[in-house]
Amino acid sequence: MSERAISRTVAESQAERSEIVFPNDVNPIGNLFGGRLMQFIDLVGAVASVRHSRAITVTASMDHLDFVAPVKVGELLILKASVNRAFKTSMEVGVKAMVEDVLGTGEMRHVASAYLTYVALDRSGHKIEVPLVVPETEHQKRRYEDAVARREMRSGETLRKKEIRATIGSVWNL
Ligand SMILES: CC(C)(COP(=O)(O)OP(=O)(O)OC[C@H]1O[C@@H](n2cnc3c(N)ncnc32)[C@H](O)[C@@H]1OP(=O)(O)O)[C@@H](O)C(=O)NCCC(=O)NCCS
Repeated sequence: MSERAISRTVAESQAERSEIVFPNDVNPIGNLFGGRLMQFIDLVGAVASVRHSRAITVTASMDHLDFVAPVKVGELLILKASVNRAFKTSMEVGVKAMVEDVLGTGEMRHVASAYLTYVALDRSGHKIEVPLVVPETEHQKRRYEDAVARREMRSGETLRKKEIRATIGSVWNL
């Protein structure tokens, strides 16, 4: 059976991460730094991509990152990641970041969302094919379908990155 014949449900690779926001991660008015939030988003997204592909993955891109609301020092941040769709060697992962009002109502406040693309590699660093995604719920099916349009929008950026790499290669004689 080829690797490509394998498929996994979205639920099989979903990942969650909880973080308490400490004072060294905030600015002088007590708001979590955007870069630190991006790191948490990347880490939880990476876990979902590794679970789905059962391989080493690297972040190819992070796009459409919306900082919806600030996160304050002392708050409990919950990040949830799902693989929306797998293509050939890449996977689109959606991450949603929320703050849980853990000392009060228990309600979740949406603070940020992002789409990331991860590429699966073997131990020698070569790209490998990833299993297909099987969406089950209506929500998962919608994100699965929408991922194609987002990939189209990203393709210009992918091309631009290749051009940058070619330029860097010629400048540094790589
Ligand atoms: C990501 C990387 C492996 C892609 O390698 P590449 O030789 O440019 O690969 P290709 O053009 O053949 O593209 C491979 C896949 O990645 C996707 N891809 C490449 N660049 C992308 C980008 N900027 N955004 C989204 N997807 C991208 C392609 O669409 C393709 O998907 P598919 O196989 O599912 O069709 C390479 O650019 C790389 O190693 N980048 C650095 C990654 C890194 O260090 N990340 C941070 C630390 S984890």
